[in-house]
Amino acid sequence: MKKFLIAGNWKMNKTIAEAKEFADALAAKNFANAEEVAILAPFTQLVTLGESLKGSGIGFGAENVHFEPSGAYTGEISVPMLEEIGVNYCIVGHSERREYFAETDETCNLKLKALIAAGITPILCVGESLEVREGNGEQTFVASQLVADFKGMPADDVAKVVIAYEPIWAIGTGKTATPDQAEEMCAFIRGVMGGMYSNEVADSMLILYGGSMKASNAADLLAKPDINGGLIGGASLKIDDFSAIVNAANDLK
Ligand code: PGA
Repeated sequence: MKKFLIAGNWKMNKTIAEAKEFADALAAKNFANAEEVAILAPFTQLVTLGESLKGSGIGFGAENVHFEPSGAYTGEISVPMLEEIGVNYCIVGHSERREYFAETDETCNLKLKALIAAGITPILCVGESLEVREGNGEQTFVASQLVADFKGMPADDVAKVVIAYEPIWAIGTGKTATPDQAEEMCAFIRGVMGGMYSNEVADSMLILYGGSMKASNAADLLAKPDINGGLIGGASLKIDDFSAIVNAANDLK
């Protein structure tokens, strides 16, 4: 049976009270596929999310982390700090962090290694800009990100990473990649991972699509053979919209 991960990325949204209300309501849905659902949220909400989602099967995690375990890095949060909260996941290299906060493939690589060592599942984001796609350079660009982001990582560790293909031109723009465009790149990513490691590793990996996924287009995207779920921004902020996407994945089982 195909494995999915339906992950909400709340970005810089919600107060602790709002997060609790959402998580309590989400847990109460008792999704049959709850183990394949996660919420990625701001640091301030994580303790509360852990309490509200406890026992529900639904995972939770952070949107960023520093790669050093401690030290003079004002304003940062470390992997041991996330471990203490018991998070399951952490996003690495979201395009907004690459663009606005100088995240590089080198720091992504260090973050992946630190998270894997702690048993936290990284959700690594890759994806091209509109300019790159218009120049037909998207595959070269994404392949170069994968090579740099996984540099020096053994196959066993790589197999534990979730990859999210998020074309920058589709994020928050309402402009979704077509199911065929998304499938083409997710299949390409699986092929690159197969070439770098093995088909066994590539086939075991979860590869998500992200970029304006919503209730109305989720089923068509999730039905594609190489798309194992979604990283969902805007549509994860409302419980009905997010639940509809979770149910769309379950209907494909
Ligand atoms: P969006 O964001 O669903 O609002 O396009 C997706 C993301 O940035 O992860």
